[in-house]
Amino acid sequence: MPLLSLRMRASLKGRHVSGAERIISEEDIPSTLCELLRRPGEHDFMKLTLERLEEIEKLEFNMPISSYEFRSVEEGRDFALKELVLSGVPEDVAKKGLDLLSMGANPKGGNMRGAVLLDVETGDRLEPDLERGVRTVRVDWKDRSAVKSELLKRGFTERTLDALAIAFKNICCGVLAELCWSDDPNYLTGYVSSRELGYVRITPLKERGDPLGGRIYFIRREGVGELIRCLERRAVLISSLPQLS
Ligand code: COA
Ligand code: AMP
Repeated sequence: MPLLSLRMRASLKGRHVSGAERIISEEDIPSTLCELLRRPGEHDFMKLTLERLEEIEKLEFNMPISSYEFRSVEEGRDFALKELVLSGVPEDVAKKGLDLLSMGANPKGGNMRGAVLLDVETGDRLEPDLERGVRTVRVDWKDRSAVKSELLKRGFTERTLDALAIAFKNICCGVLAELCWSDDPNYLTGYVSSRELGYVRITPLKERGDPLGGRIYFIRREGVGELIRCLERRAVLISSLPQLS
């Protein structure tokens, strides 16, 4: 049965306010369209993209998930630094990643529209466009509602559902480690993920009210073009419930 990628993005006065994507079969188009149409809050522009996927890779989710809470952002970020080092990122490069996200990784100020690619050996930025970055797209859960209810039951959020899918695809494409916190001023949980440690949720990684956030992908310079193609183009459908630890 052919599968399709349905993507939605919405903006208000030129500012991105909401994005989502699903990989679905034809029969699910009407219900998914309704869901995504209702998803953004206030917006004055919405774009929906529906495309047939020629090839799709089915992958079994196999990352452990863990959660840690700290009393302060400083403690949370110190812990994130240690987790990145345990994942094989040299300490100075891991620090550079944390500094970039804290100050806003867009050279023109503020957030980017995708992730920073950081050379794990030198700390050089490798994304072709430093304001845009690189986005991980064409990824979804095979049984999204079952995974969602399992995560919600365990006290996680719907954000975790989407972030887990992105983080898992990233590792499968060859990202060595990832650091993320949201640009939502009210969402303080972020994560480090890597093949070594799995998906490590950390609260708080930012102060309430802070509008800065983003993603840093720690990668090897060799094969960066291939990695970008994988992140942006390869369609991945993830099966099975996460084994929560
Ligand atoms: N942030 C800011 N701007 C974005 C954006 C984002 N996440 N996604 C799209 N845009 C804007 C950009 O201006 C982009 O232009 P660019 O390519 O020059 O950056 C423009 O919209 C066109 O984007 P488009 O090509 O239509 O998007 P896409 O096909 O790459 O799809 C989304 C991207 C919308 C699917 C993706 O960004 C997204 O939101 N995925 C879901 C992620 C998620 O669930 N996050 C929450 C938990 S972590
Ligand atoms: P969010 O978790 O949606 O708040 O996004 C946090 C940051 O991650 C954004 O500011 C972007 O810089 C980046 N980002 C958003 N979507 C993607 C994506 N699909 N792939 C890579 N980076 C993204």
